[in-house]
Amino acid sequence: MRAWADWVKKKNQSLGFVPTMGALHAGHASLIYRAKKENDKVVVSIFVNPAQFGPHEDFSRYPRPFEEDRKLCASLGVDALYHPSSEDIYPQGYRTYVNVEGLSDLWCGRFRPGHFRGVATVVLKLLQTTFADRAYLGEKDYQQLMIIRRMARDLNLPQRIIGCPTLREKDGLALSSRNQYLSPIERAQAAILYRSLNTAAKKIKSGETVSRALSSARRNILSVPQSKIDYIALVDGESLEELKTPRPGARIISAVWIGKTRLIDNIKLV
Ligand code: PAF
Repeated sequence: MRAWADWVKKKNQSLGFVPTMGALHAGHASLIYRAKKENDKVVVSIFVNPAQFGPHEDFSRYPRPFEEDRKLCASLGVDALYHPSSEDIYPQGYRTYVNVEGLSDLWCGRFRPGHFRGVATVVLKLLQTTFADRAYLGEKDYQQLMIIRRMARDLNLPQRIIGCPTLREKDGLALSSRNQYLSPIERAQAAILYRSLNTAAKKIKSGETVSRALSSARRNILSVPQSKIDYIALVDGESLEELKTPRPGARIISAVWIGKTRLIDNIKLV
């Protein structure tokens, strides 16, 4: 990977980077299109990062359709695919982790202890190895995006971290590799998440209190059998601190279980 990145740099070409865990979908493809538009060369990484999964999470069953992913990348004109093994990233004796304090303990961090430490560590390693100029990440994982931006600023990384809009199915469900865990009935029910966020955002914009708007979103979501809410909150768009009243750039962020599948989504209040 390094040798190829050096070769790109020697030719004075810019390099865009799309970090992924594979099981690529149209959301990833949109990141690749953007990276291709803004750079001379594009590298995609596929690595299911063990350090960001808790002991009882879905690491072993996370989908790994490598051949399909490889073909999709080739058809989209990706110049290099970086597919390291766990030993490449975490060789024996590996001891160094990155923790973006505070931001990593909020929201998803409360329910997935250690998750963002694993994300920040692997993304830093991937940025160091690919030598990219720009990294492209989806806004669906909004807390992840804010943590990676903070890390890049705090550690003076040369890369620009670029957030790209969430892609959605027709009924509003945000595209995610984990959607394939949903049964057909759950898949239909899962649309409730975006619908509820959207309605809450509209109510807040038209003057309803944040607490009333979010309470009714919670009731809507919980009307789906087997659903559970980890959190739904209005937050500052950068610090992710909870807000009781709206302000420019604020977002409603959420994590919800439909059956055994945990979905996250967020929406900007404009
Ligand atoms: O969003 C993801 O797919 C992963 O968290 C990432 C950024 C590739 C790090 O493993």
